Amino acid sequence: MKHLLTTQGLSKDDAILLLDTSAQMAATQSRENKKLPTLRGRTVVNLFYEDSTRTRISFETAAKRLSADVINFSAKGSSVSKGESLKDTALTLHAMGADAVVVRHSASGAAHQLAHAGWLDAGVLNAGDGMHQHPTQALLDAFTIRRHLVGRVGDDGRGVDTSVGADLAGLRIAIVGDVLHSRVARSNVYLLHTLGAEVTLVAPPTLVPVGVETWPCRVSYHLDETLEQWQPDAVMMLRVQRERMSGGSGSFFPSPMEYSRKFGFDARRLAVLPDHAIVMHPGPMNRGLEISAAAADHPRSVIVEQVANGVAVRMAALYLLLSGDDSTNTQQTSTST
Ligand code: CP
Repeated sequence: MKHLLTTQGLSKDDAILLLDTSAQMAATQSRENKKLPTLRGRTVVNLFYEDSTRTRISFETAAKRLSADVINFSAKGSSVSKGESLKDTALTLHAMGADAVVVRHSASGAAHQLAHAGWLDAGVLNAGDGMHQHPTQALLDAFTIRRHLVGRVGDDGRGVDTSVGADLAGLRIAIVGDVLHSRVARSNVYLLHTLGAEVTLVAPPTLVPVGVETWPCRVSYHLDETLEQWQPDAVMMLRVQRERMSGGSGSFFPSPMEYSRKFGFDARRLAVLPDHAIVMHPGPMNRGLEISAAAADHPRSVIVEQVANGVAVRMAALYLLLSGDDSTNTQQTSTST
């Protein structure tokens, strides 16, 4: 694996390898000395043209836990504000010896261009490109689903993860909300399908993208009907991305109150799910719009755990891109201190 740009086309074997390596990484994170020497001497650049809290911090944490040198680049305050192009920025990173570039950009396809334009030798990890893809988010979501619904670990995260090696066959995942603007939804649909899960997207017709009929999932316009009749094992709520809507004011639905009434997730809707079902959200959340505080903070919510799992998943992605994916190296990582 040279780059991680999309979950579309990621093979099942590679997806399972990423999840299993994440499990190994997670095991190292519950011990006192969390740091591994694996990427000592390597340089990871976080190249963020769009705001981020979770992804940027967890990639930085992941790289540092693997002993890499980390350079954080934010477009704000850089020469990008003077008009410098993505190409010239990439050539600068190449000159500085970047081994991996983690990129978030508002343009769909920016990560692909960075990986394939010949400006860099580095491995490229897509940390979110426009409305296209966010593969490490989908991987951390799949990792969280697998641990909860397939395997078992101790309450404190320690112990054997019995989900290792497993796919998600037979699980039903509902992804609810602003699908139109969501790279998280696209990435999850393809990854969850590859792993054998069934996916239903639930959204108002105005927030469903053109061409969704080619995606490997079903589409519903009725949340209550989907929850009651389909009984999903996990409900993944999506952020309403008002900043990407025309006028930036959420003009795609009649009113926030109407949206919340029809598509918001709350304790009443949680109560109709099976007892084992989990509630997910990639963050950041609009509390009171797509999810109520009671649902977000409910014991069956795994939202904070998703963030924690992001570190292990990004450690695995950096490791597999920079160290090769053969079993010898994987073994070394699990036993190094
Ligand atoms: N889920 C996610 O991508 O969050 P951030 O925008 O905070 O990175």
